[in-house]
Amino acid sequence: MATILLIGFMGSGKTTVGKQLAEYLHQPHLDLDAWIEAHSGQSIKQIFTDHGETFFRDLESEALSAAIRQEGVLSTGGGTPVRSVNRKLLASSGSPVIFLQTSPEVIVNRLKNDASRPLLQSMDNDQFIELYQKRKTYYQQSADIIVDTDQKSPSEIAHEILIQI
Ligand code: S3P
Repeated sequence: MATILLIGFMGSGKTTVGKQLAEYLHQPHLDLDAWIEAHSGQSIKQIFTDHGETFFRDLESEALSAAIRQEGVLSTGGGTPVRSVNRKLLASSGSPVIFLQTSPEVIVNRLKNDASRPLLQSMDNDQFIELYQKRKTYYQQSADIIVDTDQKSPSEIAHEILIQI
């Protein structure tokens, strides 16, 4: 069973903080996007381009149900809690679900030059804010603990999580 589940928007630091937590806990770090890429043999970007988002979401749900049963710290993808089947898996896992809450300004700043996130390409600022607000509801619904990450280093965030779980 996963020890800690990290959720949050793209660019909120789920992977970086997850690695840090795994190091502190001497446990494996699992990253859902990396899991999907390893099992499909394609990059996330390629999967979106070749097969579309619905196909990616199916792979993501399959990957979540397998990865959540492994021991370690699991960093999910930004869209993982959007599907209700995934939210149910998160809720029934028995593992603490941590929402890394990052402001839209910080996210835009971090991701403005990142070409690897297919969902953000061709999205204007209004569309981004709309997606952010919609997602935030799902993250809040799924979270046992919410950690604000703006102005904090990955190790500060990891420590904040460790004292709360
Ligand atoms: C997505 C987030 C990405 C990746 C895919 C879709 C999303 O993961 O799963 O590009 O819908 O927010 P990160 O949150 O790790 O960037």
